[in-house]
Amino acid sequence: MSKPFTLGVLGSGKGSNFVAIANAVAAGNIPAEIGIVLSDVETAGILAHARARKIPAQFIPPGKFRTKLDEEAERAFVAALQNTRVDLIVLAGFMRVLKGDFLRAFEGRIVNVHPSLLPSFPGLEAWRQALDQGVKVAGCTVHFVDAGVDSGAIIGQQAVPVLDHDTTESLHQRIHAAEHELYPKCVAAVARGEISVQGRRVVWKK
Ligand code: GAR
Repeated sequence: MSKPFTLGVLGSGKGSNFVAIANAVAAGNIPAEIGIVLSDVETAGILAHARARKIPAQFIPPGKFRTKLDEEAERAFVAALQNTRVDLIVLAGFMRVLKGDFLRAFEGRIVNVHPSLLPSFPGLEAWRQALDQGVKVAGCTVHFVDAGVDSGAIIGQQAVPVLDHDTTESLHQRIHAAEHELYPKCVAAVARGEISVQGRRVVWKK
């Protein structure tokens, strides 16, 4: 039997996007298996969610930097993902920027979800940036990862309204709910080979 399309999921937080993807895999909506979950945060909820599903889950200490992995950590992440023979790396709330050797090891095979309609509001707390800017429409984006910050080719986007009474919490929650719909659909399309990348444009064949 051929090896199933294998996902490696990286996250630093509570792991609700991981749960949405794991549920979609379990329901047969993503033709893949989740081979490994890795985190740079020992207490991250994503690790507990993975272990509860009997998916291999590992904390890898990120090293001395705050916003990226140090060289040793980067090597450990790459080795764990290569040993699991992952086909696609799914960033689900992974809060460190991935650099050269990691990107080269998995070129074109890393996707991320970001809580804004990119290219608006890259970086941290995008929902707060949206409120501060006063936009009327916010949302989320799933995109390929390149060397920039939240800058790779866009696979899919889902919009949500910004309401007059919104707080950072209520808007973040609405965006999060949109992510849980959008991310599994995009991962399924990549796993099925239903998209092609033409420069910055990602074309859905179906
Ligand atoms: C999500 O809202 C995701 O878009 C964001 O972290 C959250 C993780 O939530 N990611 C980024 O901001 C990356 N730049 P989760 O742990 O519940 O999936």
